[in-house]
Amino acid sequence: MSTERVAVCPGSFDPVTRGHEDIIRRSFRMADRVIVAVAYSATQAKQGMFTVDERVEMIRETFADEPRVVPMSFQGLLVDFARAQGADLIVRGLRAVSDFEYEFQMALMNRKLWDGMETVFMAPDLEHLYLSSSLVRQIASLGGDVSPFVPPTVLARLQAKFNKPAS
Ligand code: PNS
Repeated sequence: MSTERVAVCPGSFDPVTRGHEDIIRRSFRMADRVIVAVAYSATQAKQGMFTVDERVEMIRETFADEPRVVPMSFQGLLVDFARAQGADLIVRGLRAVSDFEYEFQMALMNRKLWDGMETVFMAPDLEHLYLSSSLVRQIASLGGDVSPFVPPTVLARLQAKFNKPAS
């Protein structure tokens, strides 16, 4: 029997940020392998800036140095996906108290849906406390410099999208 601990770090990752990267790298303190799982939006209302395939590719490129990261996408319930992948731990970053209510609700609901599922919340590096994918999208689309906030591969794609030459 395998004793490998597999965690899943789910999210929209539109796009993956330095904040996500920090949490994912820290999660190896608890897991041997981390599936970074990009969720297809259940509703068409949340289309996003990048396609799910692009988001998975950016995660793959960001963690090219880390074979324990497994980038994937999933549809449907997270608990069903996690169970099918042999993962019994959800890792989520918690930035501020404002994140807490939503995160706590999801953690309890996920455990109700499958009582084998535990969620752990990790505190990010202080530098990333204010960071979010939505702010990155907004700043990039308005011509601001997002280079401190995203991995180089994401920066290149944002620059290509907004037609700015790489500096
Ligand atoms: O990065 P986000 O948008 O905050 O991530 C939210 C995500 C993808 C983790 C959440 O919406 C999710 O788990 N979606 C999958 C569908 C599901 O299982 N819903 C029930 C959650 S209690």
